[in-house]
Amino acid sequence: MLIFNKKAALVSYLKPFIASKKSIGFVPTMGALHEGHLFLIATSINNNTVTVVSIFVNPTQFNNPDDLKKYPRTLEKDVENIKKVSPNVIVYAPSVEDIYEGSTYSESYSFDGLEFQMEGKFRPGHFDGVGTVVKRLFEIIQPSNAYFGEKDFQQLQIVRKLVEKHHIPVNIVGCPIHREENGLAMSSRNERLTAQERQEASLIFKTLQTAKEKFGTKSAKEVTEWVQKEFQNNTNFTLEYFEIADENTLITCIRKSKSKKYRAFIAVFVNNIRLIDTISLN
Ligand code: PAF
Repeated sequence: MLIFNKKAALVSYLKPFIASKKSIGFVPTMGALHEGHLFLIATSINNNTVTVVSIFVNPTQFNNPDDLKKYPRTLEKDVENIKKVSPNVIVYAPSVEDIYEGSTYSESYSFDGLEFQMEGKFRPGHFDGVGTVVKRLFEIIQPSNAYFGEKDFQQLQIVRKLVEKHHIPVNIVGCPIHREENGLAMSSRNERLTAQERQEASLIFKTLQTAKEKFGTKSAKEVTEWVQKEFQNNTNFTLEYFEIADENTLITCIRKSKSKKYRAFIAVFVNNIRLIDTISLN
């Protein structure tokens, strides 16, 4: 399997594919790959001539230095897992220097307000970091299609906005959330949970499912208050936010409208490990 650490070598390898208009599929990741990532990779392989997977823990999108330090780094295991999907996948695992060239800072973006909701409120600067690295990766790889998981639904909408506002010619494909048997959304951060915490964290998805049921007959405010109470009663979890929002604008739902698509979004700490999840409500 081809593994590139330097963008110059990757760019020259991809040049003939771009020149002959072959489709390049791209799966950006921060490693610690799970089945959700492997599904994105398999989807890309099925729909493109060549697939590139980046593995890069992007420092500029972490607002918490401890989270960055503890983020799992499992390159060898990741490469083995990708090989099992296909040995023809190309891996780009750059250093911070290769991406940032000595100035490890985010550019500042406007995503028309999407960046001020939910994750944006609690992780200042996070989406500038995501925008910066995703735009750089798109410039290097020049993909035809790029694949993102719906667990990070706000990120997916922000990447769509980035591409639209900067006229980047790439098709953004959102892929469904993969879940563990108990319903917990697959995430690289799950690796940091103990077996017991992993089991207990099934409460997150169970709560989202009940919230969805309740949303059929109750207001967004009533459902939100119910979720907040559920977590107040449970000392193993700290609820950071639960929001019901318009899927397109990500603006909090005050009064339901039949013409809008809504989603519930949640962020919860389990023993200092931050987990997020989302569910479509209608
Ligand atoms: O979702 C992620 O893993 C990251 O935010 C991404 C898109 C790879 C950018 O660093």
